[in-house]
Amino acid sequence: MFDFKTVSLSEDGKSLVILDQTLLPGEMKYLTLHTEESIWEAIYKLRVRGAPAIGVAAAYGMYVAADSCVTDSVEVFMKELERIKTYLGSARPTAVNLFWALDKVFAAAQDAAEKSGKNPDAVAEIKLAMRKEAERIHEEDIITCMLIGENCLELLEPGMGILTHCNAGALATAGIGTALAPIYVGNSRGYGFKVFADETRPLLQGARLTAWELSQSGADVTLICDNMVSLVMKSGKIRAVITGADRIAANGDTANKIGTSGVAILAKEYGIPVYINAPLSTIDMECRTGADIRIEERPGEEIYKMWYEKPMSVEGIKTFNPAFDVTDNKYIAAIITEKGIARPPFNESLNNFFK
Ligand code: MRU
Repeated sequence: MFDFKTVSLSEDGKSLVILDQTLLPGEMKYLTLHTEESIWEAIYKLRVRGAPAIGVAAAYGMYVAADSCVTDSVEVFMKELERIKTYLGSARPTAVNLFWALDKVFAAAQDAAEKSGKNPDAVAEIKLAMRKEAERIHEEDIITCMLIGENCLELLEPGMGILTHCNAGALATAGIGTALAPIYVGNSRGYGFKVFADETRPLLQGARLTAWELSQSGADVTLICDNMVSLVMKSGKIRAVITGADRIAANGDTANKIGTSGVAILAKEYGIPVYINAPLSTIDMECRTGADIRIEERPGEEIYKMWYEKPMSVEGIKTFNPAFDVTDNKYIAAIITEKGIARPPFNESLNNFFK
């Protein structure tokens, strides 16, 4: 369906390859990364972004960075691995998939280390186990996206107007996305959805990425500014809001791109259901509520400089630039995962997914 690959391992298995999303929609350029610093930078700068894609990139990134560690000592290798894990984990704090993927690859390494005994090839075996785990995470994400798409489609009707915020599409995952997955699945069956993408300031994921990838797929997409959401909702053009998530607490409170909570509050006013599409790996049962979720703050220049030819405010102006907000569970009609649809009370329904 798409002629791009968001994230992959190079053919020789030595590098993480990502589509540099900071250049979209103007330029499609792939970056081949093999140092831990370049991988950290790519995640921090949102060259690769979106919770599941960050997870896959981190999994391959950890393997690639550790692969260059030359030692025969399992102990030295595992220490180095722990350092790389902490380092990559410091790139962005909110998307739990980053930590989830790093933990998984680390656990695979630990497991292989325990099994290796006094084997002289132990380090090579550990590296192989890490690579396999990263590839598994990648493949699983592709299937998960399809399942989320199928499950969410049950809630939608042909021709519906749907608002989405930020980008939770193919560019945010290794597959067909989460929020956009039902749109791709439905459209392939003739549903003809009418999608509204809000631009999603300050980094414009809606304008630059969602509008681009939906257009590429042939979907009917209309771009609006963030502050037009209320008017468009009131006009009756939107019958569902679908977004992704960066971290979902055990009670259903959901951290997603800044602005999501405002969209959800407006949707409640207009009687429009809000659906959160996310893999189980985005649900953090250790966070009891949204108050436990750490929100990333980013440089203020993203607000008034980054996309403009000249600064659009006073040079050095005081800014506040939280990258995410938490939508309280009372504004969420359902959370759609690969395992099915969770309805309120989320404490119960989300917990059931993990039994
Ligand atoms: O800062 P970003 O672009 O990484 O934020 C992305 C989002 O908020 C997405 O909605 C979320 O990660 C889900 S992606 C399937």
